[in-house]
Amino acid sequence: MTFDELVELERRYLLPTYSRYPLAIARGKGVYVYDLDGRRYLDLVGGLGVNALGHAHPRIVRVLRQQAARAVHVSNLYYHEYQGLLAQKLCELSGLQRVFFANSGTEAIEGALKLARAVSHHQPGKCDVVALAGSFHGRTFGALSLTGQQKYRGPFEPLLPGVTFIPINDAEALRSAVNDSTCAIILETIQGEGGIREATPQFLRQARDAADRHGAVLILDEIQCGLGRTGSYFAYQQMDGRPDIVVVAKPIAAGLPLGAVLAREELASAISPGQHGTTFGGGPLACRVALEYFRVLEDEGLLERVRRVGEYLQHGLQELVVKFAVAEQTRGRGFMQALQLALPARSLVEKGLEEGVLLNVTQEKVLRFLPAFLLEEKHVDRGLRVVRKLLRDLQKGNRFSQKMGEPEGSPERSDRGDTQPT
Ligand SMILES: Cc1ncc(COP(=O)(O)O)c(C=O)c1O
Repeated sequence: MTFDELVELERRYLLPTYSRYPLAIARGKGVYVYDLDGRRYLDLVGGLGVNALGHAHPRIVRVLRQQAARAVHVSNLYYHEYQGLLAQKLCELSGLQRVFFANSGTEAIEGALKLARAVSHHQPGKCDVVALAGSFHGRTFGALSLTGQQKYRGPFEPLLPGVTFIPINDAEALRSAVNDSTCAIILETIQGEGGIREATPQFLRQARDAADRHGAVLILDEIQCGLGRTGSYFAYQQMDGRPDIVVVAKPIAAGLPLGAVLAREELASAISPGQHGTTFGGGPLACRVALEYFRVLEDEGLLERVRRVGEYLQHGLQELVVKFAVAEQTRGRGFMQALQLALPARSLVEKGLEEGVLLNVTQEKVLRFLPAFLLEEKHVDRGLRVVRKLLRDLQKGNRFSQKMGEPEGSPERSDRGDTQPT
């Protein structure tokens, strides 16, 4: 099938939920993907944070093959060998004590929300939630109700009542929003889709205190920032976060759909058999692959690499901020990095494809980097060479230097002094 035929088929038969870039990916290997004609692209998007082990990792392929030949699915009516082991692993890494497996991020958020409701069920009226403006927790109704962005919520309102949104890192707003009717405070330790914005350690402490003061649970959504992406197993471990519930998904099963709710022991008694469950969640294939995911992280020293190469990437991005007026700021840690631009960035992503690099834009003007943990310095160099060229063209195309009051014809910054990120 040609690319054009494929596009036409989707146009004809799919619900129009996606606005895709003009690329069909046929396969991948490590940090590269290949299109239908075999052209190679450096992947700095990593399946939006899913492909932490890149593509076709030999150990993942081997385990997939082995387990597919044994049992892909086992109903949650029965035990299998891997769900308990994976739960144990997640508990050891997180410091929490109980796990529920779901099939995606949004579904894990639903599980967390239901657990929070169950915990306060005996207290009438204690069912409100405090969440953050600019957040993204998923697209099912519960998760969407916690998502503080009108563009996602608008068409589907009315959503779940009783959710208050406050600005990130605003202690005063937190204090006035949380009260005895609050059953949960939920936040992404680092907002991903929102443009890579971190909750400060201080704000995490304040959220912990507010939850304790009012008998609410603190839920940290680490679906995007967790499981190694920031250089530790959980981002909250670098920020003095002390959650009651943590939600993970994306990279955990190396591309297979799997999400998990991790909870403190004391919350487990709130839920009993039959109150929550799933057909597919925590099947043997996904759980066994997830166990291998963690083994690969350990055996290949990938968290250390995320820290080292992540810093290298961040320095490279900071240099772009110094050099280009259109690049305003960098944010992030490890392999969760952002370059805030002054202009919409979609055209950059399209031109990136022509240059053989997959880039991602979120919040219209933020280039977001979520590469595989296998990325090396030489890949960063290649990627940033392309980004540099694209920024130069973007500035020229928009006569940016002139707008910024710089002399025409020198679109790159020459004065380092006034260009530091704020
Ligand atoms: C922080 C966060 N929470 C929840 C979700 C929803 O996950 P999923 O798309 O697997 O449902 C996402 C997805 O991008 C996310 O980044």
